[in-house]
Amino acid sequence: MCGIVGAVAQRDVADILIEGLKRLEYRGYDSAGIAAIDQNNQLIYAKRLGKVQELAQALQDNPLEGSTGIAHTRWATHGSPSEVNAHPHISNSTIAVVHNGIIENHQALRSKLQGLGYEFLSQTDTEVITHLVHHELKTNDTLLSAVQHAVKQLEGAYGTVVMDSTNKSSVIVARSGSPLVIGHGLGENFIASDIMALLPVTRKFSYLEEGDVAEVTRFAVNVFDINGVAVERPAKEVNVSHDSGDKGEYRHYMLKETYEQPTAIRNTLEGRLVNNEICTQAFGAGADEIFKTIEHVQIIACGTSYHAGMVARYWLESLAGVSCNIEIASEFRYRKSFVPKNSLLVTISQSGETADTLAALRLAKEIGYQASLVICNVDGSSLVRESDLAFMTKAGVEIGVASTKAFTTQLVGLMLMTLAIGKHHGMPADKQAEIAQSLMSLPAKLDEVLALASDIEDLAEDFADKHHALFLGRGDQYPIAMEGALKLKEISYIHAEAYAAGELKHGPLALIDAEMPVIVVAPKNDLIEKLKSNVEEVRARGGLMYVFADSEANFASDETMTVINVPVCDDLIAPIVYTLPLQLLSYYVAIIKGTDVDQPRNLAKSVTVE
Ligand code: AGP
Repeated sequence: MCGIVGAVAQRDVADILIEGLKRLEYRGYDSAGIAAIDQNNQLIYAKRLGKVQELAQALQDNPLEGSTGIAHTRWATHGSPSEVNAHPHISNSTIAVVHNGIIENHQALRSKLQGLGYEFLSQTDTEVITHLVHHELKTNDTLLSAVQHAVKQLEGAYGTVVMDSTNKSSVIVARSGSPLVIGHGLGENFIASDIMALLPVTRKFSYLEEGDVAEVTRFAVNVFDINGVAVERPAKEVNVSHDSGDKGEYRHYMLKETYEQPTAIRNTLEGRLVNNEICTQAFGAGADEIFKTIEHVQIIACGTSYHAGMVARYWLESLAGVSCNIEIASEFRYRKSFVPKNSLLVTISQSGETADTLAALRLAKEIGYQASLVICNVDGSSLVRESDLAFMTKAGVEIGVASTKAFTTQLVGLMLMTLAIGKHHGMPADKQAEIAQSLMSLPAKLDEVLALASDIEDLAEDFADKHHALFLGRGDQYPIAMEGALKLKEISYIHAEAYAAGELKHGPLALIDAEMPVIVVAPKNDLIEKLKSNVEEVRARGGLMYVFADSEANFASDETMTVINVPVCDDLIAPIVYTLPLQLLSYYVAIIKGTDVDQPRNLAKSVTVE
């Protein structure tokens, strides 16, 4: 989703801003733009539809010199992807604005500003901020105060940076609903929507809180809260162990990240289990007190993270003996829900910035949840800062829009959470040790699964000309079937759905024919015989099946069924083990179809608007 980079320095900042935009490309975007104030105090800018590289090329032809600048990658919400709709937006040749988020009252503001004589060039909601700030400057002495007055009139979400060509010593930033970080340098300061953008220039960051407006100069960052009161937002050094780096030997980030899963899981487990016992400090101070007293867990997440939460429900209820509900954040936040006594709200999010999940957490605080815990991959993100407890997955930066290692490390985090809660709810010590050992065996098991890659690559050919696919699973493999279907549709654009196999005869069986490949997730477990009956239902209707199963499940390939042998593993970790072949399948199908695997069309990595 949209990305912001800004800088106030002594040196020319165009290269820093372009590099920052490149480092935000993984978030997804359709156009890019940059503006700077030159030595004659003129605003100079460039915008391009398409990739940041095209903008970089344009700057090679026409260099943009200036030591104060802002830049943006846009993911269209209001107005189609086009150069005119790309940011920065300019008012009266002096005010330049970049913005992430959505201004919900943009129509009313647009009419008001048009009435005041402002001419709009774009269809965006952002342009209203530009003219509003210009208008406010007529009655305010400083850009800071003009922005403070302007943002009071905005409804919706914004992370915005405003620049005035008549004063290049500062830029003004404001945050409400869309994250912004300040990067602290030596005699220069930076702004970005994500620390990734600024890692080449600083490792020292402070985070703006909701409602903050800040003035950023070369030597100072003055932050004011929603009431205009000066506040401190302390800067911290970040220790990012995995920089985005490059793809190394891999053709795509997604493939690299798929292969990184054994290491990512090893890192996530490191220091969290000692002598087969969970270290509850991994969840933060006070975790034991909270886990002891909770009687119910409500999980909230979106997309892939939601699928991780679905698996956790099976684990929490069967292993920890605690009741659990799971809901999609965008639904939870807009309905009146019942809060059972002593409930813990658990959010799951790779980015820690997903707008709906964040809104759900804030709502939960209002409606009486006892405490909140987030399972997250990004330290310092909004969800981590606003939750009572946090478990950090150690997946390293995930660049591919299609989540892989973030998902499996979330599952590891959720299993550790099950252990930590179970420990206080009568889970026997030998069961705890069994789960711990099972988790420790995971990285080696996943290495075995990754060795199936070339078999799965061969299989992918069968899917290239298909328009639909059906995924089936039962029990804790049902969410894995859902995740497999999501991966396939995300990156290969093949329509894919997942069903709990027991639901087949209640409708989806009508879809079965030779044109509908059916992918079955079938480890040997308590439900295997039930699943086999469902497989027979498909076979009897001429369906073509691809069954991922271990040798103990006893499936054999024939003309209607291709069996992919997955290594035998413990039931406890099977959801994680069976995820990898499905990731590989979607990857290889996407390769054959020639899609943009790492940045699939219309999607964004970090969904910071609702
Ligand atoms: C996963 O492949 C997706 N790109 C998407 O569903 C993602 O999981 C979802 O947007 C939630 O993101 P989060 O984990 O950062 O909150």
